[in-house]
Amino acid sequence: MNFVKFDNFYYRYKGNEEYALNNINLDIEDNKYKFILLCGETGSGKTSLIRCMNGLIPQFYAGFYKGKVFINGNDTVETSIANLSTDVGIVFQNPENQLISMNVENEIAFGLENLGVPPKEISRKINESASLTEIEHLLDKAPFELSGGEQQRVAIASILVLEPKMLILDEPTALLDPYMAKKIINLLQEIKEDKKITVLISEHRLDLILPFTDQLILMKNGSIIEYDSCEKVVNGIKFQNLNLNKPVIYSIFSKLKKKNLFDKKIPISITEAIKSLRM
Ligand SMILES: Nc1ncnc2c1ncn2[C@@H]1O[C@H](COP(=O)(O)OP(=O)(O)OP(=O)(O)O)[C@@H](O)[C@H]1O
Ligand SMILES: [Mg+2]
Repeated sequence: MNFVKFDNFYYRYKGNEEYALNNINLDIEDNKYKFILLCGETGSGKTSLIRCMNGLIPQFYAGFYKGKVFINGNDTVETSIANLSTDVGIVFQNPENQLISMNVENEIAFGLENLGVPPKEISRKINESASLTEIEHLLDKAPFELSGGEQQRVAIASILVLEPKMLILDEPTALLDPYMAKKIINLLQEIKEDKKITVLISEHRLDLILPFTDQLILMKNGSIIEYDSCEKVVNGIKFQNLNLNKPVIYSIFSKLKKKNLFDKKIPISITEAIKSLRM
């Protein structure tokens, strides 16, 4: 069974003429813990696609839809958002809106308390996810006292503690400086390996994220135009033609390739470029 399944799914927000999602067919396999990047120009439908994965679309956002979405076999129209959220953990763009408790420890405990987990278990789980996200020293603080990067890590910890089978993040580094952004992306890579879960991320900082990406989903005008291994997509014409913030190293080698001065796969990091030039 596929963990995520979109079946000829269309969606438009109430009051909009245009479809934000246009005949989406997408299968993400079970148990194959991968790092999947969701990539597309602004307004292409990335956030809307993510909103479907815990039922926010169509249950919370009013609009018109056609087709089906299944998460872990559950129809997202018939299953409550709360139940879907035990399978997929989603961290949305602005962590501030997601943090509601008086202190970080309560924030992380919140979801577990709602699920009726015994206090001893809660405490063990909090310590484990706080350690993984390196926020042990922040447990007594109020979320509003934290920096953007710290808030982002708390938001990740509070989702991670629920042990989702898939972690989804919508532009988790949008509000962070490049140093913090890199730390968050490294953390996500660690979580993927440590917890053996699939991480799906929408992210504009391609220079930071591409080196970790196993699979890439390309979106344009509400449609998925390509979904394949990162290497394949990055070397394709669709990626080349999209207006994205591509890594400098990609742009250099792509130009060399166009001029027939380079005929191998386009590297996406300096390490890869060096390797490729030595071969
Ligand atoms: N809450 C909403 N109500 C009405 N229309 C919306 C809403 N959210 C998004 N849209 C519209 O749906 C389309 C897709 O938007 P979406 O936010 O999914 O794109 P995106 O790829 O996430 O863009 P970005 O890279 O800027 O975050 C856009 O035309 C947008 O204006
Ligand atoms: Mg978005």
